Amino acid sequence: MTTGTACGKIILFGEHAVVYGRPALAVPLSQLRAKAFVTRRAQEGIVIHARDLEREIVVNDASASEPLAAITRMTLERLGLYENLDISVESDLPLAGGLGSGAAISTALVRALAAHFDQALTPAQISALVYETEKMYHGTPSGIDNTVIAYEQPVRFDRPKPSAQTSVGQTTLGWEITPFRIARPFTLAIANTGVTSPTKITVGDVRRGWEQDPVRYEKTFDTIGEIVQRAQDAVARSENEALGKLMTRNQDALRELGVSSPEVERLLDAGLHAGAAGGKLSGGGGGGNVIFYMGEGRADMVKRALLDAGAVSVIVTKIGT
Ligand code: PMV
Repeated sequence: MTTGTACGKIILFGEHAVVYGRPALAVPLSQLRAKAFVTRRAQEGIVIHARDLEREIVVNDASASEPLAAITRMTLERLGLYENLDISVESDLPLAGGLGSGAAISTALVRALAAHFDQALTPAQISALVYETEKMYHGTPSGIDNTVIAYEQPVRFDRPKPSAQTSVGQTTLGWEITPFRIARPFTLAIANTGVTSPTKITVGDVRRGWEQDPVRYEKTFDTIGEIVQRAQDAVARSENEALGKLMTRNQDALRELGVSSPEVERLLDAGLHAGAAGGKLSGGGGGGNVIFYMGEGRADMVKRALLDAGAVSVIVTKIGT
């Protein structure tokens, strides 16, 4: 049996605006992982066992838009190899929670398949394959999830602004992926609202809003772009204390875009009152996870307050180690 694993990810700054050509910063979340296991199968065909989803997918019978079947087919095509296989996938990452669960499962699956056939794929090749399934999950993904997860390092992500020639999500060409430096590690708390919110929905809502009022939305995207740049400069210069305020300003802009939710706001209030220096939703929003920049020594109090306020889980983790 061969195994492939992949980390989750957190978008620190810049979600949604990144779809419209502004930068975003994302970091791997290495402590939560997706895993895939591949073994040879005695019977005909390829079967994917997704216990978390309580599903068994027969690849040959699955529709073209079934992401796990699609990534399996595409990877085998890319490798130019085929065998009857049993594939199992599992994940520590909550589904539709803004931590990149879909991209992590696909990445783990690609890695396990490549290992099964003793083949090597580069992070760029894996990222490009996984991007194809991100389109199935997201509709118009920027590509940030597959990128940070396939490379497993902090990444600044710049996508060209959509124009008449390249509509949003149409192409993987022209991405600029720059690893960024975190000079001094910092602590984040990640609180799960327990509300699953498919990214496709909030991305679609923002798109409709942008189509109706492009001037207002573009202005908010510009504000987010400036916050991202400041945050990147701050972490490069060890000025981590600036991150709390920047997160809260990023959240203000996300609220303007309409992607916050009552559950997100409740956790934000609780975390900030308990002493977190700042916070924001992370990922698509509408629920999912809320991240907090933690000052020294505050983690226990903040964690307790978040759980009391209804968080279904709270992870405290160091970023940049
Ligand atoms: O919900 P997630 O973690 O998959 O993140 C989505 C990030 C967005 O900027 C909202 C969409 C995208 O494709 O970049």
